[in-house]
Amino acid sequence: MIRRLRPVLAAAALLPLAAAGGAPAAAEEPVVLARSMLEVLAPRSNDIVGVLIDSLDAEGEIHAANVSEDGWAAIEAALADLQAETARLRGPIQVVAEPGDTIFGEETSGLSAADVQAMIDADRAAFDYYVDLMLADFAEMEALIAARDAAGLWAIADVLDVKCNACHERFWYPDWQESDQPAP
Ligand code: HEC
Repeated sequence: MIRRLRPVLAAAALLPLAAAGGAPAAAEEPVVLARSMLEVLAPRSNDIVGVLIDSLDAEGEIHAANVSEDGWAAIEAALADLQAETARLRGPIQVVAEPGDTIFGEETSGLSAADVQAMIDADRAAFDYYVDLMLADFAEMEALIAARDAAGLWAIADVLDVKCNACHERFWYPDWQESDQPAP
């Protein structure tokens, strides 16, 4: 009896979804955090810093005139990716794709993906606070790019890792508190 009932219930459970037109909204798909970090936040922030470093003069100063139009376009594209991906971090977060996957530095920090996941789940408001800090920096950068203010942009980009690390120190390596970022 029970054996016959189960498939019926399972099929019934699927009905509302099918009636609603298939898969749930993509926005509810959890973001795989390690992938966001490795595929977007790290490389695209490096792209911005790279263009700016290439534009420094012999004295290590930056002048808007030394940034080519291609350079500005590359910076704009990288920032757009960073903004879009960071905004996605506001949704459901899964630290790694599969339960057995590891995160960078797991052996040295002693914290596993599951530990990081538990820290995020335990204080989602604090995680979102750091997401918003990052988005605020990106908004500032967007305005500086629009104004072609290379020096202002460099002032932020040069210390962007400190901003990244504010979140890392809270949710990744809590024993290493070096950045002076405000806490929520
Ligand atoms: C809102 C929080 C938050 C912000 C902001 C953030 N990170 Fe992360 N990042 C994490 C967490 C949590 C981990 C640890 C879990 C992991 O490794 O994926 C991590 C891990 C990483 C990793 C290692 C990924 C791996 O496991 O191989 C890199 C690289 C990284 N972040 C780069 C960056 C850079 C660059 C920035 C800034 C442009 C940044 N992150 C901003 C939360 C954040």
